[in-house]
Amino acid sequence: MNGSAIDPRDLRRALAGFPTGVTVVTARAPDGRLAGVTVNSFCSVSLAPPLLLWCLSKNAPSCSIFAAASHFAIHVLAADQKHLSKRFSSPSTDKFAELEFSDGLGLAPVIDGTVATFECRRAEQHAGGDHLILIGEVERYHYTERHPLLFHGGDYGIPAPR
Ligand SMILES: Cc1cc2nc3c(=O)[nH]c(=O)nc-3n(C[C@H](O)[C@H](O)[C@H](O)COP(=O)(O)O)c2cc1C
Repeated sequence: MNGSAIDPRDLRRALAGFPTGVTVVTARAPDGRLAGVTVNSFCSVSLAPPLLLWCLSKNAPSCSIFAAASHFAIHVLAADQKHLSKRFSSPSTDKFAELEFSDGLGLAPVIDGTVATFECRRAEQHAGGDHLILIGEVERYHYTERHPLLFHGGDYGIPAPR
């Protein structure tokens, strides 16, 4: 089957068989506009230098903010943070309303209570079809022993007890 015969919606169903965690990526543009997007296309690229990547739809309204911001913060959501995944995957003019956060590197919003947070300088940006591939160099991070939120088959889950 060649690429043009691929149905994107069916391909999305096939890809949903790959279980992932859930992240929220945040940034602040130089003009102060905030962006926050739920993302599961996150992965690590390199340990030395410390590089991470994620992919953002070129059609996402927040695209111009991430393209302008010097930094972004990647939050690995905890099992009890499904509400944050829903908040940041729904289009809204103010996703940060009544949400507590602090200012991280590059003034990117940093949200508390996550499994891990990686504060990155936006190092590289590449075109990848209908998405942008954003590569960040980790400048600061922290992590905890919290259980992660999972995503599989288009639905949320939590890890089975060990
Ligand atoms: C679990 C989950 C994972 C997602 N992963 C991505 C992703 O990797 N890249 C992306 O561009 N959108 C992803 N989305 C969709 C965005 O979160 C959604 O389109 C969001 O509204 C974009 O933010 P914006 O409207 O402020 O630009 C995901 C949604 C969910 C629920």
